[in-house]
Amino acid sequence: MNTIQKIKGVADLFEPESTAFTRLETVAREVFSRYGYQEVRVPILEKTELFARSIGEETDVVQKEMYTFPDRKDRMLTMRPEATAGILRACIENKLFAEHPVAKLYSFGPMFRYERPQKGRMRQFHQLDAELLGPREPEADAEVLLMLWTYLRELGLRKLCFELNSLGCAACRPGYRAALAAYYSGLDTAALCEDCRRRKDTNPLRVLDCKVPACKEATAGAPLITDCLCPGCAAHFAALRAALDAQGVEYALNPRLVRGLDYYVGATFEITSSDIGSQTAVAGGGRYDGLIRDLGGPDVAGIGFAIGMERLAMLLPETRPPAPDFFLALLDQTAAAEALALAQALRTQGLRGDMDFAAGSVKSRMRAAGKSGARFCLLLGAEELARGTVVVKDMAAGSQAEVSRTDPGALRAALANPGANA
Ligand code: HAM
Repeated sequence: MNTIQKIKGVADLFEPESTAFTRLETVAREVFSRYGYQEVRVPILEKTELFARSIGEETDVVQKEMYTFPDRKDRMLTMRPEATAGILRACIENKLFAEHPVAKLYSFGPMFRYERPQKGRMRQFHQLDAELLGPREPEADAEVLLMLWTYLRELGLRKLCFELNSLGCAACRPGYRAALAAYYSGLDTAALCEDCRRRKDTNPLRVLDCKVPACKEATAGAPLITDCLCPGCAAHFAALRAALDAQGVEYALNPRLVRGLDYYVGATFEITSSDIGSQTAVAGGGRYDGLIRDLGGPDVAGIGFAIGMERLAMLLPETRPPAPDFFLALLDQTAAAEALALAQALRTQGLRGDMDFAAGSVKSRMRAAGKSGARFCLLLGAEELARGTVVVKDMAAGSQAEVSRTDPGALRAALANPGANA
């Protein structure tokens, strides 16, 4: 019978990737909780309208990349392409802001985008997302960036580049859009890619962020948003930069950084790496004041980021789970029930180990123990069964001792101390 294969752009994660993912989550929980963040879990399926209204009708994500389908009652549903919209919907629906003027939330999970798969770009990928809802001050932006910076450093990643920009607010944008439109009107649009020929009218800022070399070249002289900021946005951005400078966070200003989602205003950022192939963005985020109101909630400000876990995992040194403490090998099938009881007793005491359910020769059992990577091999046959003992073999030292099974202290001591039987 032919086997069933996974669909394109998704991955099965075994060791060592699964351990790397666990590490990313464990360190995030630890670091984010120091900053007062709490975990939230929100649905993968949402009404399509949520994403169209928040991410923006004209974005590539909404136009081309969403997994959208009617359910059995013809309601349009979408498998989330990102986490921010769902988290905000959940806060509004659960009236979180009535009780808490400030919310600090993080979440992990799978996201779905119908993109052309390549290294670091999947159709099902995972994000680690954090959102700070409430404060509008530049110090809040700085705290979010410092948390991300601290997280990456605690993972041992110091070679990443922080790119920073301000996209301005509703007051700065009309003037900037007009300046861009004037610039585009003098351009030979034949030099732009097909997407940018459309974008220059529907989403003019996005043209600046296009990765196609011809578009980059054609728009090299475009006006920059940072030259068009209103006094409020300019002061906010300067204060954020001063706070980051004071903390020794290195960043590069990138006035062409636009981001692929339309809800951003003010500070935006991306963390990039040259070590993960052509998809260089490991994380991205920014401020989105006004989005909560646009989704029907109160006028609460917000800023956050999401990290692509597949991309970050590629940068981690390989991590493997710790070696098991014991491997319990049966030399005689009559000892099977006792072996199971012994393994259970050791695991209940907190030791990690595996057991072989089938009996075999000492030689074959030792080979299996060696493969398992365990520090000790425990051998149990008919003779040990009768004597109330078990043979404890120290795999590294090659020494062995016969230890009482009924004296838990003796067995524990033998297992706690590699090399002691030599
Ligand atoms: P984003 O830049 O669209 O932002 O995605 C964040 C990160 O998710 C990217 O930097 C990248 O590492 C990863 N990513 C995106 N698409 C893929 C893919 N197809 N395959 C693998 N990794 C991918 C957001 O999603 C915003 N919601 C971030 C945010 C939170 N802004 C404010 N709060």
